[in-house]
Amino acid sequence: MKTVRLLATAAMGLESLVAREVKDLGYTDVTVENGKVMFDADVSAIPRLNLWLRTADRVKVIVGEFEAKTFDDLFEQTKALNWEDYIPEDGAFPVIGKSVKSKLYSVPDCQRLVKKAVAEKLKQKHGVAINMPETGAMYKIEVALLKDKVTLTLDSSGSGLHKRGYRLRQGEAPLKETLAAALVMLTNWKPDYPLVDLFCGSGTIMIEAALIGQNIAPGFNREFASESWDFIPQTLWDQAFDEAEKLANYDQPLDITGSDLDPKMIEIAKDNAIEAGLNDLITFKQMQARDFHPKKDNGYLITNPPYGERLNEEEEVKQMYRDLGKSMVLNATWSSYVLTSHEQFEKLFGMKATKKRKLFNGFIKVDYYQYFGRHNK
Ligand SMILES: C[S@@+](CC[C@H](N)C(=O)[O-])C[C@H]1O[C@@H](n2cnc3c(N)ncnc32)[C@H](O)[C@@H]1O
Repeated sequence: MKTVRLLATAAMGLESLVAREVKDLGYTDVTVENGKVMFDADVSAIPRLNLWLRTADRVKVIVGEFEAKTFDDLFEQTKALNWEDYIPEDGAFPVIGKSVKSKLYSVPDCQRLVKKAVAEKLKQKHGVAINMPETGAMYKIEVALLKDKVTLTLDSSGSGLHKRGYRLRQGEAPLKETLAAALVMLTNWKPDYPLVDLFCGSGTIMIEAALIGQNIAPGFNREFASESWDFIPQTLWDQAFDEAEKLANYDQPLDITGSDLDPKMIEIAKDNAIEAGLNDLITFKQMQARDFHPKKDNGYLITNPPYGERLNEEEEVKQMYRDLGKSMVLNATWSSYVLTSHEQFEKLFGMKATKKRKLFNGFIKVDYYQYFGRHNK
């Protein structure tokens, strides 16, 4: 089977989690850089990674890497790559680009040149006389320059992997599904422990947790650009979907509850859970966070409360964090995991975190405060 070099892209701070997922799927010799996880694998990895990766943004195929400081360099080396092995005669191949700290800084010029070089190569190899028709499957090319090093990739995912297909509606500040999955994976929660999110909004964290709890592939209900790529035999997609079906553990009982002050958000969260096929597994209810009392033992709170960034919210949010600390301290077997940008969080919550981890929620710098309960130490 054909070997390809693959790149799983990751949000800043999530690279090590993406690498762990890639390794857990059986791929080795993984290189991790800023925002990137790279490795060689056979073509069957493309369906599997797209279906299974919970914390990566996209899966890309690296067609070539080289250094280029002039447009001539870029053109000739792009043309020298074996594009015909990937893109068929009728393939559509739009080019996007980015350039950081490189001599070739004009992205539109780089894109135009790559487009021309690939088109010339394909015409030559496929024996097309005038223009490539581009009426077939989508092979989106990216030309990325970093310190004069060019990486040319094909995007196998299509829309970003955070688009699982279940989010019909959302609230004001929803978490990206990939980050929500990461928050769950960074804890020691196991499917038999109780799990709550007291500020659940559209339900993202609890829905991702239920998918993890039953080992359901997050991409099971969506499509990927590479499903119509000629160089990936259909049988490999069928095998990957069969494998996902076989590995799902629909009998795993779960004790997952999301609550929110806003009844509208509860309605939205329920609709999203129904769309994900998980509505029997998650309880959503309208509740003030301060009314929560951790009764069962060994539970986990994983939550993304308001950050109080708007001036008029500041006092309210401070009180909310104090109340949260008071609730969680009532049962020492519980573990709490809270994502916030609020600098005073530990002081307000009333305890120093066992562990802290810096993350980004979009462009907002946040900390993931982790308090280990008694059984989790
Ligand atoms: C940042 S959003 C959570 C977004 C969620 N993680 C998602 O992906 O959709 C914070 C949520 O806290 C809720 N909220 C605000 N004050 C609350 C309170 N005192 N008790 C419970 N929920 C509250 C808001 O209604 C909002 O939905």
